[in-house]
Amino acid sequence: MKTHRIVLATQNAGKVRELTGLFAQSRAGHGMEVLGLEAFPDIADIEETGATFEENALLKARCVAKATGLVSVADDSGLVVDCLSGAPGVHSARYADNWQALPGESRDARNIRKLLHTLEDVPPRDRACRFVSCIAAVKPDGAEMTVAGVWEGVALESPRGENGFGYDPVFFDPTCGKSAAELSGEEKNARSHRGKALRALLGRWADFFEPDRR
Ligand code: IMP
Repeated sequence: MKTHRIVLATQNAGKVRELTGLFAQSRAGHGMEVLGLEAFPDIADIEETGATFEENALLKARCVAKATGLVSVADDSGLVVDCLSGAPGVHSARYADNWQALPGESRDARNIRKLLHTLEDVPPRDRACRFVSCIAAVKPDGAEMTVAGVWEGVALESPRGENGFGYDPVFFDPTCGKSAAELSGEEKNARSHRGKALRALLGRWADFFEPDRR
């Protein structure tokens, strides 16, 4: 069987793990070699200047498809908190970059510290939030598709769980009574924003990737 190579336009190891796993489980993933950006060290960091998740996902996927000549898949995602007017939103990864890091503190831990501080006086009923993921696929010939997925939750008052990455320890899913960091990778994929977006992408993959075969 012919192997197709696609490249995931992300440096985030947590996302590469989740997306590669989901591709591997899917029918569309058969005969597909999924590469990460580390296979293309010459590609410079892509600035996420878009105002929306969709704009940023397209920006990254277009740039990597052009640079590699391969079909590129990029996700832009983040945490949207209602009582913060949607913050940290598209700035989720860099939310606390204007805060002094504690000794040895990771970026994820600093983001969580800022979020918990900002929400300090907000009661549980007003802490509604959601993870949003937009995934863009771009072919070197310029064809594009975008899909989105949303995961509704509540921002916790203190971190719970050890799994996952980013804001997972402070994101509580009331339907299963656990934080995202208390779920296994498989459990998270089944309900997460990225899992939903990727399943939507895979559902449309054959039409996008090989439209002539239908
Ligand atoms: P991006 O690389 O600009 O899409 O940054 C997304 C940021 O949003 C990550 O660095 C995390 O802080 C946050 N984020 C996105 N998806 C997740 C998730 O599944 N769990 C926890 N945090 C997430």
